[in-house]
Amino acid sequence: MAMVNLKINDQKVSAPAGSTILEAARLAGVDIPTLCDHPALTPIGACRMCLVEVKGQRALQPACTFPIAEGMEVQTESSKVKEARKFVLELLFSERNHYCMYCEMTGDCELQSLGYRYGIDHWVYPTYTKRFPVDATRQYFIMDHNRCIVCRRCIRACGELVANHTLGMRQRGADSMIHADMNVPFGESSCVSCGTCLQVCPTGALVDKRSAFMGRDVETEHIKSVCSQCSIGCGMEIVTRAGNVLRVEGDWDAPVNAGVICQVARFDPLYDERQRVAKPLLRKNGKLAEVGWDKALQSVAEHMAGTDSRKLGVLTTSNATNEALYLLAKLFGKELQATNIGMLNGVAPKVSGNSEASLADIAQSDVILVVGADPVNDQPVASFFVKRAIDKGARLIVVDGEDNELAPFASLNLKMADINKAIEIAQRADYPVVVYGIGVTKKAVKALRELGQKAKFVPLEPGVNTHAVAAFGLDNGFDPAAAQALYVLVGEQDWDGKGVLEKMGKGAFLVVQASYESPLIEHADVVLPMAIWSERAGSLTNTEGRVQKANKAVEPEGEAKPDWEILSLLANKMGKKFSTSLDEISALAAERLK
Ligand code: SF4
Ligand code: SF4
Ligand code: SF4
Ligand code: FES
Repeated sequence: MAMVNLKINDQKVSAPAGSTILEAARLAGVDIPTLCDHPALTPIGACRMCLVEVKGQRALQPACTFPIAEGMEVQTESSKVKEARKFVLELLFSERNHYCMYCEMTGDCELQSLGYRYGIDHWVYPTYTKRFPVDATRQYFIMDHNRCIVCRRCIRACGELVANHTLGMRQRGADSMIHADMNVPFGESSCVSCGTCLQVCPTGALVDKRSAFMGRDVETEHIKSVCSQCSIGCGMEIVTRAGNVLRVEGDWDAPVNAGVICQVARFDPLYDERQRVAKPLLRKNGKLAEVGWDKALQSVAEHMAGTDSRKLGVLTTSNATNEALYLLAKLFGKELQATNIGMLNGVAPKVSGNSEASLADIAQSDVILVVGADPVNDQPVASFFVKRAIDKGARLIVVDGEDNELAPFASLNLKMADINKAIEIAQRADYPVVVYGIGVTKKAVKALRELGQKAKFVPLEPGVNTHAVAAFGLDNGFDPAAAQALYVLVGEQDWDGKGVLEKMGKGAFLVVQASYESPLIEHADVVLPMAIWSERAGSLTNTEGRVQKANKAVEPEGEAKPDWEILSLLANKMGKKFSTSLDEISALAAERLK
């Protein structure tokens, strides 16, 4: 990579050609204040907070958009620069309502911090007293136009990162306002509630309803983890205070999603109103009663060990860690020789003979075939990637049904029977990518294979950790009628067991490892309380086969335990001598996933 040499504050600096002064300064550890700039967004040079002095230039220049050149000399903290920045801040504070002490973002606001940094301690200009509306029509967050500094970060985040293009600007000058679609209330707009705009807003204009006034950043902890709501495996940060989850944010450093997450990760789990199972339960005299872990595990161990392996059944959710799935396979498949094992979520068939492509390939594509998958509903961040590629000129062909939520963005919508038309178009493309899911038919798989090396194939697995379930052989068909003792690892999944329970023989013994109360556990003989996504560590394998570490952010509810630990304790209760160390189990699971 060609490097450019320049001086910033008399310090010699080298940065890749094409960098801006701001990027070069960041590489050299020189802090230049910004407001409209955000590292994940295209710079627009709107706020003038980053003005710097460039030798030879008559006026001060915005560092976020000004490109570096060989021999350039830049001053970032000269008195001229400081004066200009202070002036920018004085104007911003005189517009709208920036009475910081009443704002949810006080202490965490980028505008307020800059106010302190440049000594803004009074209003120099008459304050602007016009009242702007507050739009609280969205379920999860509020737009307070009074706090908005019109930096347009939200507009760019919605357009560039989510490719949803909900946000825009109306009016001019001091009356400028962010609006949704054709100026409809936010709650009635095309917004998909991913919250990316909320995450990039530098002030208290976009405010999370649930965590508002619950703690400033210095009072919180940010724990990096991986989303376990679908198979994309987006990196996220769980923000906690005093042992409670306040909110979830996208992790800008995450390799899969680079900061963008969806509603299902950011908001839905925090609004889950299902009742937790907090203690082990054992059926006694026809009723489930609370017992200690020891008694509950003893009962499970006795029944499982006392059942003929051909009459043992296992059903698992794919929303479990690699470690739990590994132990489930080891205990039931290897040690107890059970073969009647199935999963709740299904597996997408393998289309390509070669190793599958990665989600990043979607961005490079010029023709995208979405076949038998509905990422808008099932893997939302993947749908953002597809829509970003469309914005860059890629052509989308949806081979599914009219109900597919990507259908309105497609240049061609086809039925599965007409897949050959899509394949013909892909054959003529430079970089075709096939994004497919569990809905792809056998016939379509056969037809798609004709594309061979020409296309990249990106599977979208239907369950969170389907990849690991399949890799550990936990998906070899399940016959409820053959199960006299059934172990269900349902975890956090909403599954009532109907259909399966009806087909099971009378008197069959049912063990449920679950996080939430449900109609399923009402039929159980033993219920083992399981920790949820924020309460357990472990690893997850995403739809690309990428193994990622999930970290524990808060203590489990009541006596709940992590999914893997329950299985390890059960195995030991059966005298199997399994490891109880997460690190050891993780290493063994990772070995099997290679
Ligand atoms: S929540 Fe997401 S979709 Fe909605 S306006 Fe913000 S960035 Fe756009
Ligand atoms: S809402 Fe926030 S991000 Fe959007 S323009 Fe206003 S201050 Fe900037
Ligand atoms: S796309 Fe899936 S993994 Fe990514 S944030 Fe949404 S639910 Fe989580
Ligand atoms: S950060 Fe450069 S102009 Fe706003």
